[in-house]
Amino acid sequence: MANAPELTPSEPCPPPPSGVQDYVRPMHIGAVAIDRPFALAPMSGVTDSAFRRTVQAASGGTVGLLVTEFISIEGLTRKNLKSAMRMAFDPIVERPLSVQIFGAEIARMADAARMVADAGAQIVDINCGCPAPKVVRRGGGAELLRQADHLARLVEATAAAVAIPVTVKIRSGWSADTVNAVDIARRCEAAGARMIAVHGRTRMQMYTGEADWSVVDAVARAVGVPVFGSGDVATAQQALWRLRTTAAAGVMIGRAAIMNPWIFGQIDDAVRGAAVRDVTPLDRLGLLRSFRDLQRERLPEHAVPGRLKQLLARMTKGFAHGTLLRERAMRSATTDEMFQWIESFFEALQSGGLPAWCDRARAGLPGHDRASLPDQADPVSVV
Ligand SMILES: Cc1cc2nc3c(=O)[nH]c(=O)nc-3n(C[C@H](O)[C@H](O)[C@H](O)COP(=O)(O)O)c2cc1C
Repeated sequence: MANAPELTPSEPCPPPPSGVQDYVRPMHIGAVAIDRPFALAPMSGVTDSAFRRTVQAASGGTVGLLVTEFISIEGLTRKNLKSAMRMAFDPIVERPLSVQIFGAEIARMADAARMVADAGAQIVDINCGCPAPKVVRRGGGAELLRQADHLARLVEATAAAVAIPVTVKIRSGWSADTVNAVDIARRCEAAGARMIAVHGRTRMQMYTGEADWSVVDAVARAVGVPVFGSGDVATAQQALWRLRTTAAAGVMIGRAAIMNPWIFGQIDDAVRGAAVRDVTPLDRLGLLRSFRDLQRERLPEHAVPGRLKQLLARMTKGFAHGTLLRERAMRSATTDEMFQWIESFFEALQSGGLPAWCDRARAGLPGHDRASLPDQADPVSVV
């Protein structure tokens, strides 16, 4: 497991020119209509139903495609409770929804895809990009990029098993010496895949370096099905810029949607030529409250603080004085305790200041015992 680094908006990004409609277009994945070519990327430990609904609400329903975190075919077909919970979704709000599954066994993949279709999801996606040793060792995730024949049979059997479209999400290749995304994508298309998402990093890169969008572009030119590019899109302008300068039909956004769950709405503003909406501290507070309420609907109370800590840890990275809030939140035992810190922090920020406890903490005054703080490691790890 490796922690994904933070995103910095480093790409050059000119404002979108007129004629944005030439490259921001609706599409179909199989028979599923996608109104806007911007998808929430699958993120393990992050994109659960509460998070997907939170992002969809914050963005005013403008997310073109929602993808679940990856779910083990082993767990699903063995009726593991955790896997079943990972597949749970709200069929009205979370639409169109793609459920991502991972594994390597052909018959089991087909069975798991049937379960996804029976649950009412619009799309089933096969993970061919996860770099985690425990996944690739068992033949799944990015290992499939090295087993092209097996992958083709896997996609073919899965596509034959369900009426909903089957898609794949790949990386650019296993390593810098074996970048084979174009070949893999062609084979997946021939085997029945209806969309291909490409994360422009190799498996060996994990999350280091920069995503190579020239690979995304090459794949999009090589296949007839829509291609979504993924990697390092940090702002609305960058999302449009990627669509404009590559042949990709769509853009997937992962880490930026954690720090800024409003990003899809901001993209929509930019496409319409409207001023890109600002996010206030009170917006952030409201979002955290609704995320908490959604988690409370689906999880026992003792599990809610953990999910809140994960979101808060990522959302406040690079945020002015975010460390101080994280420190307080991370050592809160209950949701309500955590919310006392969260509320006082964002309410003070909204009025242009900081809560008194932040000042004490910054000055290292009594009442803020740094030595007693728990480990501040980012609890969200990448699979
Ligand atoms: C915390 C985290 C978890 C992820 N989990 C998955 C996953 O379950 N399935 C998958 O295909 N990709 C996963 N990814 C990769 C993302 O979908 C995406 O391709 C990658 O983060 C690059 O996009 P970004 O720069 O917009 O985050 C994960 C990434 C992160 C940061």
